[in-house]
Amino acid sequence: MCINFGNKPWERFVKISLIHPIAADMSHSVTQATFGKVYLVGAGPGDPGLLTLKAKGLLEHADVVIHDALVSPPILAMIGECSQVIDAGKRRGRHSMAQDEITQLLIDQAKVHAVVVRLKGGDPFVFGRGGEEMIGLLEAGIEVEVVPGITAGIAAPAYAGIPVTHRNYSSSVTFVTGHEAAGKYRPKVNWSALAHGSETIVIYMGVHNLLNIVSELTLAGLSSETPVALVRWGTRPEQEELIGTLETIVEQVEQQQFQAPAIAVIGRVVNLYEVLAPASPMHSPHWQSVQG
Ligand SMILES: C[S@@+](CC[C@H](N)C(=O)[O-])C[C@H]1O[C@@H](n2cnc3c(N)ncnc32)[C@H](O)[C@@H]1O
Repeated sequence: MCINFGNKPWERFVKISLIHPIAADMSHSVTQATFGKVYLVGAGPGDPGLLTLKAKGLLEHADVVIHDALVSPPILAMIGECSQVIDAGKRRGRHSMAQDEITQLLIDQAKVHAVVVRLKGGDPFVFGRGGEEMIGLLEAGIEVEVVPGITAGIAAPAYAGIPVTHRNYSSSVTFVTGHEAAGKYRPKVNWSALAHGSETIVIYMGVHNLLNIVSELTLAGLSSETPVALVRWGTRPEQEELIGTLETIVEQVEQQQFQAPAIAVIGRVVNLYEVLAPASPMHSPHWQSVQG
């Protein structure tokens, strides 16, 4: 049975108390607030077992969930049956909603619902535009809270058997966008500085720009023998890996028609793939049991 809560202060308080049983400290702001609250929730990379308890509670009780394209089906299946679900998914070249439309949608939903969940793949603040949405909401006078998620840049390599640091191979890691060709990120990525300054480089959205990235890093002095891994749909049943070097990886991608979304890992830690991949969490009965 679905109980409909409105957006009167006491109704919001009851609703939010259900999600956070220890809501006493929230009662003041909830009863004073004019609007509902937006939660920017990280869904993690796909494996439902990696969702945080806080995110799960919010999904079960949200009035409305606005999700992006990289949220996995078993996580969408956790959304409460009384919640409205809006797909604001954006995939490369097929934008279904512009960013300012999404922010406006969140504002509009918070004016009529107590609990609005904005569900994003991975972590909302890691190449997830969570910061922009949060600023837009605060400027509109809407209460907002971030619920961090496990980012794909750590989890996808981990599920492939690649730790992003290791005492013997890498004491530094950089998370970087490979999508700068679209001119959307400022300041521009300084690939030369990364080649010299970071022992592990983890690249999001890099598949389409891989040739350019490889030549920038090689020109900056990284050996063509440097190991590279691509992990596609990490932590999900469709996970695939491609292992090569700076010299070989572009050709491998073409030959195998390897597609996004994938995380690229560059550095000596990739050599651990051979040793650690057999112990991937994907071989565990728990992973298999929660895939839906
Ligand atoms: C817009 S970024 C969002 C990143 C997300 N906020 C995070 O923290 O993981 C999208 C990119 O993240 C990477 N990505 C997200 N989920 C992934 C997964 N399950 N496996 C591999 N790469 C993934 C891909 O590089 C994809 O193009």
